[in-house]
Amino acid sequence: MSEPKTIAASAGAGEPVPVLELRGVTKHFGGVTALHSVDLKVNPREIVAIVGDNGAGKSTLIKAISGTQPPDEGGFFSNGHPVDIRSPQDSSRLGIEAVYQDLALCDNLDTVQNLFLGNEIISSAWTGRRLNHARMERIAGEALRDLGVSTIRSLRTPVGRLSGGQRQGIAICRCVMRGPKVVLLDEPTAALGVEQRAGVVRLIHKLKSESRSVIVISHDLHDVVLEVADRIVVLRLGRKAAEFRREDVNASDLVAAITGVRSRHAEQQLAL
Ligand SMILES: Nc1ncnc2c1ncn2[C@@H]1O[C@H](COP(=O)(O)OP(=O)(O)OP(=O)(O)O)[C@@H](O)[C@H]1O
Ligand SMILES: [Mg+2]
Repeated sequence: MSEPKTIAASAGAGEPVPVLELRGVTKHFGGVTALHSVDLKVNPREIVAIVGDNGAGKSTLIKAISGTQPPDEGGFFSNGHPVDIRSPQDSSRLGIEAVYQDLALCDNLDTVQNLFLGNEIISSAWTGRRLNHARMERIAGEALRDLGVSTIRSLRTPVGRLSGGQRQGIAICRCVMRGPKVVLLDEPTAALGVEQRAGVVRLIHKLKSESRSVIVISHDLHDVVLEVADRIVVLRLGRKAAEFRREDVNASDLVAAITGVRSRHAEQQLAL
């Protein structure tokens, strides 16, 4: 088999201006260097998958971009301009929203309450200021339907009682309702069944069709990464080990880049 082609690190003339670019992003946790001078570009309407073994630095990268764990070194550029991302508010202002690995939903609240948490719609009437439940439920229903999240029977059920796929759909919907240009998804299909995984893949395609860019972290090479990504970035021990265009790689190339071992059996070993 021929070696897969990797993409050159720097952009040339005629290439699109990235909606988001990271240069030299480095993050230390005590003696551990979780990210080591990572460069990354995300173009408009592009789906970039980040892959890597456990502890490779994938979630740390997402948290650096979303401002929850700002890097120690390196910089960010938005549409070609240098920007500061030191807090989640900074990244939100730049149109970046994240769905984290643990989803961060409030289990005791229902779908509508989770979707509007911190952004509740208030209506003023002669009786005083009140939450406009009917309006929020209508908008929540429309937003979920627009995204194709259709299996939640009651929007008033506490989300702790919903399935993993339904919860993932709500978390993505909450993020999309903020109108992001760039959506960060950390392991959106972890622990989901085949049907639900296909639903999340459809959601990711939908985000792109709405002209959003997506950075998606996944261990699921076949059903998620190779299914949705335009470009795939491999992290190994905090460093960018490789970068591929989707059409230039297959799963065994990716496994080889992830593990650093080029072996016919590597794919089987990773699946165990
Ligand atoms: N808050 C933290 N404090 C100390 N070390 C951390 C912290 N967060 C991450 N690390 C370390 O940084 C490294 C990268 O962790 P990270 O969570 O980014 O990995 P990951 O690629 O997302 O892994 P996984 O696939 O298991 O989710 C690991 O060695 C981890 O132990
Ligand atoms: Mg992680």
